[in-house]
Amino acid sequence: MRTVSALLVFTALAALPVVAQHGAAPHGDRVQRDPVSYMKSLDDPARAAWQKPDEVVAALALKPGDVVADIGAGSGYFALRFAPLLPQGRVLAVDVSQPMLDEVGRRATAAGMRNLVPVLGGFDDPRLPAGGVDVIFTCNTWHHIDGRDAYLARVKAALRPGGRVAVVDFHKDSPRGPANMKLARAAVVDEFQRNGFRLAAEHTFLPDQYFLVFTAS
Ligand SMILES: C[S@@+](CC[C@H](N)C(=O)[O-])C[C@H]1O[C@@H](n2cnc3c(N)ncnc32)[C@H](O)[C@@H]1O
Repeated sequence: MRTVSALLVFTALAALPVVAQHGAAPHGDRVQRDPVSYMKSLDDPARAAWQKPDEVVAALALKPGDVVADIGAGSGYFALRFAPLLPQGRVLAVDVSQPMLDEVGRRATAAGMRNLVPVLGGFDDPRLPAGGVDVIFTCNTWHHIDGRDAYLARVKAALRPGGRVAVVDFHKDSPRGPANMKLARAAVVDEFQRNGFRLAAEHTFLPDQYFLVFTAS
């Protein structure tokens, strides 16, 4: 019994620095506990049927010299698709998970992509260069971010003049995505608008997600 109690205390103490660093880990946190199975679900080939990655990438109309940040890049589902389109630019693959960043870095190196840079973000800060990014993209991640008003100030500071922020995330009533964390489209539009952005475009070809594009107003 004493051994079990000691083990519990040790486990609780061992978890402390992570919680102290990130606050209460907002997404639960399968990605931290089991990154391998999490990556498998992100990489599932069946995902393409509803995620429509080629259409999403085409809709962004990236330019060869763009600097693109993918916030919550995960295993690189989108970041690895962006990199070849940016021969004079680069992709900043931002994630709070080091195993995810290690994997996206490995995949980029294996594919000879030298313009993909893994960036360890903070839960409350994407750690992007000030005024250095043309397109900030985030897929299935916005609902994970806590303190989004403050976060948006950092996002805005990172944009180059004319820069865009594209948000793809699950509709609240979609059967996909985390049951209790999804954000309604209108709530996302509202939080961007009250933080100095305007809705510049919207794509409606995804069956389960909204795809919103904002510019600084
Ligand atoms: C559902 S996955 C999406 C991955 C990728 N965008 C995709 O579509 O395959 C969410 C990712 O966001 C990351 N994440 C969670 N909170 C984050 C935050 N505050 N900043 C950056 N990344 C975050 C997680 O580690 C995870 O890799």
